[in-house]
Amino acid sequence: MTLNEKTNNYLPEQCAYAKRVQAILAERGVQNPQAHIVTFGCQQNVSDSERIKGMLLLCGYSLTEDITKADFILFNTCAVRGHAEDRVYGNVGATKKYKKANPNLLVSVCGCMAQQQSVADKFYKSYPYVDIVFGTQQHHRLPEFIYRRLTSKRVYELTLDNANIVEHVPISRDGTLKGWLPIMYGCNNFCTYCIVPYVRGRERSRDPQEIIKEATDMVNNGFKEIMLLGQNVNSYGKGESHGVNFAKLLRMINDIEGDFRIRFMTSHPKDCTEELLDTIRDCKKVERHIHLPFQSGSSKILKQMNRYYDREGYLKLIAAARERLPDVEFTSDIIVGFPGETYEDFCETLSLVKEVKFTSLFTFIYSPREGTPAAVMPDPISREEKGKWFDELLKTQDEISKELNLSLVGKTVRVLCEEKTSEGLICGKSEYYSSVCFEGSDDMIGNFVAVRIEKYHNNTLYGAVIN
Ligand code: 5AD
Ligand code: SF4
Repeated sequence: MTLNEKTNNYLPEQCAYAKRVQAILAERGVQNPQAHIVTFGCQQNVSDSERIKGMLLLCGYSLTEDITKADFILFNTCAVRGHAEDRVYGNVGATKKYKKANPNLLVSVCGCMAQQQSVADKFYKSYPYVDIVFGTQQHHRLPEFIYRRLTSKRVYELTLDNANIVEHVPISRDGTLKGWLPIMYGCNNFCTYCIVPYVRGRERSRDPQEIIKEATDMVNNGFKEIMLLGQNVNSYGKGESHGVNFAKLLRMINDIEGDFRIRFMTSHPKDCTEELLDTIRDCKKVERHIHLPFQSGSSKILKQMNRYYDREGYLKLIAAARERLPDVEFTSDIIVGFPGETYEDFCETLSLVKEVKFTSLFTFIYSPREGTPAAVMPDPISREEKGKWFDELLKTQDEISKELNLSLVGKTVRVLCEEKTSEGLICGKSEYYSSVCFEGSDDMIGNFVAVRIEKYHNNTLYGAVIN
């Protein structure tokens, strides 16, 4: 993997640290230093890891998939739910043995979990072999942290001051066809169950010109799909003087020349405006898919979640979107078993799922997060009971997915060909959300083709290319 974007304007002091790191590693006889990155959690973390990889390349490391060969191991962590955290402790603990085998190995932990003081303290006290812990707003200083650790004590940098976004951090992208493009960071919504506003800080939007430049570079480098990222993309530009809101930004990206498509996530229903829906309709490069988390179908629970919309408002929004974009596909996030949720409340979630008919759902059992308001709310329903509700939801959605997929048979879609399956079929995503497999040739990969959907079998849509 190579560094595929220019580093010209990256912070000069960090470039200088990167050179010093290279020199120190060479002095210590570390030949061809290798780095292994493990990423947990959401797309924002995956995108952050691409920048982390870019900085590691600048420091002279190459990337390895083999953890046992690494001279630098980094865990980019997630704190959204408890089980993600447990996995991290297990993974970090396992690096102790690699350190014994390789005294030059550095171990680092970053991301949302590391940002929590109690977790950072735990790493400091109980994991003495963890060298560098840094928070969600300090990524751009990685060369400095490595230099400091190579020459001195363990590094713990958790400052969360919502300072200006640092641009021009080098990137090593994971793919060549579909790429992430963060447009904003942080969240101001404080949903009562969610840790994100505490660990990622306040909402900050990137400058629109920087976004356009990055998107243009991606298109010129052959990317065919740009996924715009933010905890709440619909509030892009709020509080900024440039006057570009998310709808305007979409139009600007849509105007970039080239054959590519635009996706975005995540949209908060409270900020999904008619202007935005009109924009999606008007912009041919914007896909006909909206990820619109509703979390609960009960207005009572939505209020307790601090979501700023109720069941009726959400359904009205879905109707307004379908009026403009009749075949738009929706996906959503749902939390089952929020504190105080009764079976009757849960049934309202089920009925909303049946009414809207989402293409796909991301479903979670509520996980208490220390420091959030919901974590101290009475929560009398057992985990076992919540598990039963959860299974009922999955079963309901399975039936809906089947029905929706069957209804797609006969439809022609435009597929971005992404890969060849082990059965020799070409697979890719349509302009909606669904994936389709079909017979085709290798040279289709990386291109858009028109495919007529012919059948739905074993949870997969199959089609045939039409000329
Ligand atoms: N418990 C369960 N799910 C959660 N999510 C966020 N916080 C929690 C929590 N404490 C889910 C929400 C959000 C998605 C990214 O994760 O559904 O939309
Ligand atoms: Fe968390 Fe709510 Fe912000 Fe999403 S909008 S990141 S669920 S606080």
